[in-house]
Amino acid sequence: MNTVIKKINQPYEDIGIIKEAAGIIAAGGLVAFPTETVYGLGANGLNPEAVKKIYEAKGRPSDNPLILHIASMEMLNQIAAEMPEKAKHLAEAFWPGPLTMLFKKKSIVPNETSNLDTVGIRFPSNKIASLLIKEAGVPIAAPSANSSGKPSPTKASHVEFDLSGRINMILDGGACDFGVESTVVDITGDVPVILRPGSITPEMIREVAGEVLYGADVREGESPRAPGMKYTHYSPVAEVKVVLGEPENTAQTIIDMVKKNKNIKVGILATEETKSYYSELEDTYVMVCGTREAPEVIAANLFKMLRRFDHLGIGVVYAEGIEEDGVGLAVMNRLKKAAQDIYYAR
Ligand code: TXA
Ligand code: MG
Repeated sequence: MNTVIKKINQPYEDIGIIKEAAGIIAAGGLVAFPTETVYGLGANGLNPEAVKKIYEAKGRPSDNPLILHIASMEMLNQIAAEMPEKAKHLAEAFWPGPLTMLFKKKSIVPNETSNLDTVGIRFPSNKIASLLIKEAGVPIAAPSANSSGKPSPTKASHVEFDLSGRINMILDGGACDFGVESTVVDITGDVPVILRPGSITPEMIREVAGEVLYGADVREGESPRAPGMKYTHYSPVAEVKVVLGEPENTAQTIIDMVKKNKNIKVGILATEETKSYYSELEDTYVMVCGTREAPEVIAANLFKMLRRFDHLGIGVVYAEGIEEDGVGLAVMNRLKKAAQDIYYAR
Protein backbone atom coordinates (compact mmCIF):
# COMPACT_ATOMS: atom_id res chain seq x y z
CA MET A 1 0.00 0.00 0.00
CA ASN A 2 1.20 3.48 -0.82
CA THR A 3 0.96 5.79 2.21
CA VAL A 4 0.17 9.36 1.19
CA ILE A 5 1.61 12.03 3.49
CA LYS A 6 -0.10 15.44 3.50
CA LYS A 7 1.18 18.43 5.38
CA ILE A 8 -1.45 20.68 6.93
CA ASN A 9 -0.38 24.19 7.77
CA GLN A 10 -3.71 25.79 8.49
CA PRO A 11 -6.61 23.40 9.15
CA TYR A 12 -9.29 25.72 7.77
CA GLU A 13 -7.34 26.60 4.61
CA ASP A 14 -6.37 22.98 4.04
CA ILE A 15 -9.90 21.68 4.55
CA GLY A 16 -9.74 19.99 1.10
CA ILE A 17 -7.04 17.65 2.39
CA ILE A 18 -9.01 16.94 5.56
CA LYS A 19 -12.09 16.13 3.43
CA GLU A 20 -10.00 13.73 1.39
CA ALA A 21 -8.82 12.04 4.60
CA ALA A 22 -12.41 11.90 5.90
CA GLY A 23 -13.42 10.20 2.63
CA ILE A 24 -10.80 7.50 3.28
CA ILE A 25 -12.19 6.95 6.80
CA ALA A 26 -15.78 6.81 5.50
CA ALA A 27 -14.69 4.25 2.89
CA GLY A 28 -13.19 1.97 5.55
CA GLY A 29 -9.52 3.01 5.25
CA LEU A 30 -6.86 4.11 7.74
CA VAL A 31 -5.67 7.67 8.35
CA ALA A 32 -3.08 8.76 10.93
CA PHE A 33 -3.80 12.22 12.32
CA PRO A 34 -2.43 14.58 14.95
CA THR A 35 -4.12 15.12 18.29
CA GLU A 36 -3.03 17.33 21.18
CA THR A 37 -1.58 14.24 22.94
CA VAL A 38 0.01 11.93 20.35
CA TYR A 39 -0.75 10.93 16.74
CA GLY A 40 -3.68 8.55 16.39
CA LEU A 41 -4.33 5.83 13.81
CA GLY A 42 -7.95 6.38 12.81
CA ALA A 43 -10.69 4.29 11.24
CA ASN A 44 -14.50 4.41 11.27
CA GLY A 45 -15.13 3.18 14.81
CA LEU A 46 -18.57 1.80 13.91
CA ASN A 47 -17.28 -0.34 11.03
CA PRO A 48 -15.90 -3.70 12.26
CA GLU A 49 -13.93 -4.38 9.05
CA ALA A 50 -12.26 -0.96 9.16
CA VAL A 51 -11.42 -1.35 12.84
CA LYS A 52 -9.78 -4.75 12.21
CA LYS A 53 -7.33 -3.03 9.86
CA ILE A 54 -6.05 -0.93 12.78
CA TYR A 55 -5.06 -4.06 14.69
CA GLU A 56 -3.33 -5.50 11.61
CA ALA A 57 -1.40 -2.32 10.79
CA LYS A 58 -0.14 -1.90 14.36
CA GLY A 59 0.32 -5.57 15.21
CA ARG A 60 -1.90 -4.87 18.23
CA PRO A 61 -3.29 -7.73 20.37
CA SER A 62 -6.99 -8.06 19.53
CA ASP A 63 -8.12 -8.06 23.20
CA ASN A 64 -6.93 -4.49 23.69
CA PRO A 65 -9.95 -2.19 23.16
CA LEU A 66 -9.81 1.04 21.16
CA ILE A 67 -11.08 4.44 22.20
CA LEU A 68 -13.57 6.41 20.11
CA HIS A 69 -12.93 10.07 19.23
CA ILE A 70 -15.88 12.44 18.97
CA ALA A 71 -16.34 16.04 17.85
CA SER A 72 -19.67 16.87 19.50
CA MET A 73 -21.84 15.86 22.45
CA GLU A 74 -24.41 14.51 19.95
CA MET A 75 -21.83 11.97 18.86
CA LEU A 76 -21.37 10.97 22.51
CA ASN A 77 -25.10 10.22 22.80
CA GLN A 78 -24.85 8.01 19.74
CA ILE A 79 -22.36 5.64 21.44
CA ALA A 80 -22.64 6.04 25.24
CA ALA A 81 -25.55 4.31 26.98
CA GLU A 82 -25.58 6.61 30.01
CA MET A 83 -24.14 9.92 31.19
CA PRO A 84 -23.24 9.85 34.92
CA GLU A 85 -23.34 13.20 36.73
CA LYS A 86 -19.60 13.21 37.41
CA ALA A 87 -18.85 12.50 33.76
CA LYS A 88 -20.93 15.51 32.82
CA HIS A 89 -18.86 17.73 35.10
CA LEU A 90 -15.57 16.27 33.88
CA ALA A 91 -16.66 16.77 30.26
CA GLU A 92 -17.56 20.39 30.97
CA ALA A 93 -14.19 20.96 32.61
CA PHE A 94 -11.81 19.06 30.30
CA TRP A 95 -13.46 18.47 26.90
CA PRO A 96 -12.31 19.06 24.31
CA GLY A 97 -8.93 17.95 25.66
CA PRO A 98 -6.64 15.10 26.76
CA LEU A 99 -9.16 13.14 28.83
CA THR A 100 -10.68 9.74 27.92
CA MET A 101 -13.67 8.51 29.92
CA LEU A 102 -15.11 5.00 29.94
CA PHE A 103 -18.86 4.83 29.34
CA LYS A 104 -21.27 1.90 29.18
CA LYS A 105 -21.47 1.34 25.45
CA LYS A 106 -24.47 1.22 23.16
CA SER A 107 -24.89 -1.80 20.88
CA ILE A 108 -23.95 0.34 17.85
CA VAL A 109 -20.31 0.09 19.08
CA PRO A 110 -18.91 -3.12 17.56
CA ASN A 111 -16.99 -5.66 19.63
CA GLU A 112 -14.04 -5.10 17.32
CA THR A 113 -13.77 -1.57 18.78
CA SER A 114 -14.31 -2.69 22.39
CA ASN A 115 -14.97 -6.24 23.51
CA LEU A 116 -15.93 -4.98 26.98
CA ASP A 117 -19.29 -3.55 28.10
CA THR A 118 -17.63 -0.13 28.22
CA VAL A 119 -16.07 2.07 25.55
CA GLY A 120 -13.41 4.75 26.05
CA ILE A 121 -14.45 8.10 24.58
CA ARG A 122 -12.32 11.16 23.94
CA PHE A 123 -13.16 14.59 22.54
CA PRO A 124 -9.85 15.93 21.19
CA SER A 125 -9.11 19.65 21.06
CA ASN A 126 -6.69 19.50 18.12
CA LYS A 127 -8.31 21.37 15.21
CA ILE A 128 -7.25 18.87 12.55
CA ALA A 129 -8.57 15.94 14.60
CA SER A 130 -11.82 17.71 15.29
CA LEU A 131 -12.42 18.67 11.64
CA LEU A 132 -11.52 15.16 10.49
CA ILE A 133 -14.13 13.62 12.82
CA LYS A 134 -16.77 16.16 11.79
CA GLU A 135 -16.12 15.60 8.08
CA ALA A 136 -16.11 11.81 8.46
CA GLY A 137 -19.41 12.09 10.34
CA VAL A 138 -18.64 9.06 12.53
CA PRO A 139 -16.76 8.51 15.78
CA ILE A 140 -13.16 7.66 14.88
CA ALA A 141 -11.51 4.72 16.63
CA ALA A 142 -7.86 5.60 17.17
CA PRO A 143 -5.07 4.08 19.20
CA SER A 144 -1.69 5.77 19.20
CA ALA A 145 -0.23 5.50 15.67
CA ASN A 146 2.91 3.54 16.58
CA SER A 147 3.60 -0.10 15.88
CA SER A 148 2.53 -2.02 18.96
CA GLY A 149 5.04 -1.78 21.83
CA LYS A 150 6.96 1.23 20.46
CA PRO A 151 6.87 4.73 21.95
CA SER A 152 3.79 6.67 20.85
CA PRO A 153 4.40 9.05 17.91
CA THR A 154 4.49 12.76 18.63
CA LYS A 155 5.48 13.77 15.07
CA ALA A 156 4.31 12.62 11.64
CA SER A 157 7.81 11.30 10.87
CA HIS A 158 7.45 8.83 13.78
CA VAL A 159 4.24 7.49 12.24
CA GLU A 160 5.90 7.25 8.84
CA PHE A 161 8.81 5.30 10.33
CA ASP A 162 6.51 2.77 12.02
CA LEU A 163 3.55 2.43 9.65
CA SER A 164 4.51 3.58 6.15
CA GLY A 165 3.13 1.14 3.57
CA ARG A 166 0.50 -0.16 6.02
CA ILE A 167 -1.97 2.74 6.12
CA ASN A 168 -3.62 4.97 3.50
CA MET A 169 -2.70 8.44 4.69
CA ILE A 170 -0.80 10.47 7.27
CA LEU A 171 -1.94 14.00 8.07
CA ASP A 172 1.14 15.91 9.17
CA GLY A 173 0.06 18.64 11.57
CA GLY A 174 3.44 19.17 13.24
CA ALA A 175 4.49 18.20 16.77
CA CYS A 176 1.87 17.28 19.40
CA ASP A 177 1.44 19.67 22.34
CA PHE A 178 1.31 17.30 25.32
CA GLY A 179 3.39 14.35 24.08
CA VAL A 180 1.86 11.72 26.41
CA GLU A 181 -1.43 9.94 25.80
CA SER A 182 -4.68 11.08 27.38
CA THR A 183 -5.65 10.40 30.98
CA VAL A 184 -8.01 7.40 31.01
CA VAL A 185 -10.68 7.51 33.73
CA ASP A 186 -13.36 4.95 34.53
CA ILE A 187 -16.44 6.91 35.58
CA THR A 188 -18.90 4.00 35.49
CA GLY A 189 -18.68 3.42 39.28
CA ASP A 190 -19.35 5.76 42.21
CA VAL A 191 -15.75 6.95 42.47
CA PRO A 192 -13.74 7.76 39.32
CA VAL A 193 -10.69 5.52 38.83
CA ILE A 194 -7.67 6.67 36.85
CA LEU A 195 -6.53 3.73 34.68
CA ARG A 196 -3.79 5.67 32.88
CA PRO A 197 -2.30 8.94 34.17
CA GLY A 198 -1.88 11.80 31.70
CA SER A 199 -1.83 15.58 31.40
CA ILE A 200 -5.17 15.89 33.21
CA THR A 201 -3.77 15.11 36.66
CA PRO A 202 -5.46 13.40 39.65
CA GLU A 203 -5.54 16.80 41.39
CA MET A 204 -7.40 18.37 38.45
CA ILE A 205 -9.94 15.53 38.42
CA ARG A 206 -10.37 15.69 42.19
CA GLU A 207 -11.21 19.38 42.00
CA VAL A 208 -14.11 18.67 39.66
CA ALA A 209 -15.33 15.22 40.72
CA GLY A 210 -14.27 14.92 44.37
CA GLU A 211 -12.64 11.65 45.41
CA VAL A 212 -10.62 9.84 42.72
CA LEU A 213 -8.67 6.57 42.90
CA TYR A 214 -5.35 5.73 41.29
CA GLY A 215 -2.76 2.95 41.47
CA ALA A 216 -2.15 1.82 45.05
CA ASP A 217 -5.58 3.20 46.02
CA VAL A 218 -7.24 0.65 43.76
CA ARG A 219 -7.65 -2.73 45.43
CA GLU A 220 -6.84 -5.75 43.29
CA GLY A 221 -9.85 -7.25 41.53
CA GLU A 222 -12.08 -4.38 42.54
CA SER A 223 -11.92 -2.31 39.47
CA PRO A 224 -11.27 -2.68 35.75
CA ARG A 225 -7.81 -2.07 34.38
CA ALA A 226 -6.93 -0.66 30.99
CA PRO A 227 -6.17 -3.94 29.19
CA GLY A 228 -3.43 -2.22 27.19
CA MET A 229 -1.44 -1.40 30.29
CA LYS A 230 -0.43 -5.05 30.78
CA TYR A 231 1.58 -5.16 27.56
CA THR A 232 5.17 -3.99 27.12
CA HIS A 233 5.01 -0.41 26.05
CA TYR A 234 6.89 2.57 24.82
CA SER A 235 10.09 0.57 24.41
CA PRO A 236 12.77 1.81 22.12
CA VAL A 237 15.15 -0.82 20.71
CA ALA A 238 17.70 0.33 23.28
CA GLU A 239 17.58 -1.16 26.75
CA VAL A 240 16.20 1.41 29.21
CA LYS A 241 17.37 1.63 32.83
CA VAL A 242 15.56 4.10 35.06
CA VAL A 243 17.28 5.46 38.17
CA LEU A 244 15.15 6.92 40.95
CA GLY A 245 16.28 9.18 43.77
CA GLU A 246 17.45 12.69 44.60
CA PRO A 247 18.75 14.44 41.45
CA GLU A 248 22.41 14.60 42.50
CA ASN A 249 22.53 10.97 43.74
CA THR A 250 20.72 9.85 40.62
CA ALA A 251 23.32 11.47 38.37
CA GLN A 252 26.17 10.02 40.42
CA THR A 253 24.68 6.52 40.31
CA ILE A 254 24.24 6.79 36.55
CA ILE A 255 27.85 7.96 36.12
CA ASP A 256 29.09 4.95 38.13
CA MET A 257 27.01 2.57 36.03
CA VAL A 258 28.14 4.12 32.74
CA LYS A 259 31.78 3.79 33.74
CA LYS A 260 31.31 0.04 34.28
CA ASN A 261 29.53 -0.31 30.95
CA LYS A 262 32.51 0.10 28.61
CA ASN A 263 31.52 -1.77 25.45
CA ILE A 264 28.03 -0.48 24.80
CA LYS A 265 27.02 2.82 23.22
CA VAL A 266 25.36 4.69 26.06
CA GLY A 267 22.73 7.42 26.17
CA ILE A 268 21.54 9.42 29.17
CA LEU A 269 18.16 11.06 29.51
CA ALA A 270 19.02 13.93 31.84
CA THR A 271 17.37 17.04 33.25
CA GLU A 272 18.55 20.66 33.28
CA GLU A 273 19.33 20.29 36.97
CA THR A 274 21.79 17.43 36.47
CA LYS A 275 23.25 17.80 32.98
CA SER A 276 26.51 19.37 34.12
CA TYR A 277 27.43 16.27 36.19
CA TYR A 278 27.81 14.22 33.03
CA SER A 279 30.44 16.41 31.39
CA GLU A 280 33.14 14.09 32.78
CA LEU A 281 31.83 11.19 30.66
CA GLU A 282 33.24 10.56 27.19
CA ASP A 283 31.48 8.90 24.25
CA THR A 284 28.14 9.23 25.96
CA TYR A 285 25.12 10.84 24.38
CA VAL A 286 23.39 13.10 26.91
CA MET A 287 19.92 14.38 26.03
CA VAL A 288 18.26 16.97 28.25
CA CYS A 289 14.49 16.44 28.32
CA GLY A 290 13.69 19.58 30.32
CA THR A 291 13.67 20.99 33.81
CA ARG A 292 12.22 19.13 36.80
CA GLU A 293 10.27 22.32 37.49
CA ALA A 294 8.20 21.73 34.33
CA PRO A 295 7.27 18.04 33.96
CA GLU A 296 4.93 18.99 31.11
CA VAL A 297 7.99 19.91 29.02
CA ILE A 298 9.59 16.55 29.88
CA ALA A 299 6.32 14.85 28.83
CA ALA A 300 6.38 16.65 25.48
CA ASN A 301 9.97 15.50 24.81
CA LEU A 302 9.98 11.98 26.26
CA PHE A 303 8.83 9.75 23.36
CA LYS A 304 10.67 11.82 20.76
CA MET A 305 13.92 11.42 22.68
CA LEU A 306 13.47 7.67 23.24
CA ARG A 307 13.06 7.34 19.49
CA ARG A 308 16.10 9.55 18.83
CA PHE A 309 18.31 7.29 20.95
CA ASP A 310 17.36 4.43 18.63
CA HIS A 311 18.28 6.42 15.54
CA LEU A 312 21.67 7.09 17.11
CA GLY A 313 22.21 3.35 17.60
CA ILE A 314 22.37 3.63 21.39
CA GLY A 315 22.45 0.26 23.21
CA VAL A 316 21.58 1.33 26.75
CA VAL A 317 19.70 4.41 27.89
CA TYR A 318 19.97 5.53 31.52
CA ALA A 319 16.99 7.71 32.37
CA GLU A 320 16.66 9.88 35.45
CA GLY A 321 13.43 9.50 37.38
CA ILE A 322 11.52 12.65 38.28
CA GLU A 323 9.00 13.38 41.00
CA GLU A 324 5.72 11.47 40.54
CA ASP A 325 3.58 14.51 41.02
CA GLY A 326 1.20 16.26 38.61
CA VAL A 327 2.20 15.47 35.03
CA GLY A 328 5.34 13.82 36.51
CA LEU A 329 3.05 10.89 37.35
CA ALA A 330 2.33 10.33 33.64
CA VAL A 331 6.00 10.75 32.70
CA MET A 332 7.12 8.15 35.26
CA ASN A 333 4.31 5.77 34.31
CA ARG A 334 5.58 5.74 30.69
CA LEU A 335 9.25 5.65 31.64
CA LYS A 336 8.79 2.69 34.00
CA LYS A 337 6.90 0.79 31.31
CA ALA A 338 9.71 1.48 28.85
CA ALA A 339 12.30 0.24 31.34
CA GLN A 340 13.86 -3.21 31.65
CA ASP A 341 15.33 -2.29 35.05
CA ILE A 342 14.59 0.25 37.76
CA TYR A 343 17.30 1.24 40.25
CA TYR A 344 17.32 3.34 43.39
CA ALA A 345 20.17 5.81 43.71
CA ARG A 346 22.19 5.44 46.89
O1 TXA B 1 -4.21 10.31 23.84
C1 TXA B 1 -4.71 9.23 23.52
O2 TXA B 1 -5.52 8.63 24.25
C2 TXA B 1 -4.33 8.63 22.17
C3 TXA B 1 -4.82 9.59 21.08
C4 TXA B 1 -4.60 9.04 19.69
O3 TXA B 1 -6.17 9.89 21.30
N1 TXA B 1 -4.87 7.32 22.02
C5 TXA B 1 -4.37 6.27 22.71
O4 TXA B 1 -5.00 5.05 22.47
O5 TXA B 1 -3.44 6.36 23.50
P1 TXA B 1 -4.33 3.64 22.87
O6 TXA B 1 -5.21 2.61 22.29
O7 TXA B 1 -2.93 3.64 22.45
O8 TXA B 1 -4.49 3.59 24.42
C6 TXA B 1 -5.77 3.47 25.02
C7 TXA B 1 -5.67 2.80 26.36
C8 TXA B 1 -5.19 1.36 26.25
O9 TXA B 1 -4.33 1.09 27.37
C9 TXA B 1 -6.49 0.54 26.36
O10 TXA B 1 -6.27 -0.75 26.90
C10 TXA B 1 -7.31 1.41 27.28
O11 TXA B 1 -6.98 2.74 26.94
N2 TXA B 1 -8.75 1.23 27.04
C11 TXA B 1 -9.44 1.47 25.91
N3 TXA B 1 -10.75 1.14 26.05
C12 TXA B 1 -10.88 0.69 27.31
C13 TXA B 1 -11.99 0.18 28.07
N4 TXA B 1 -13.21 0.11 27.55
N5 TXA B 1 -11.76 -0.21 29.35
C14 TXA B 1 -10.52 -0.12 29.89
N6 TXA B 1 -9.45 0.35 29.22
C15 TXA B 1 -9.62 0.74 27.95
MG1 MG C 1 -0.93 3.18 22.54
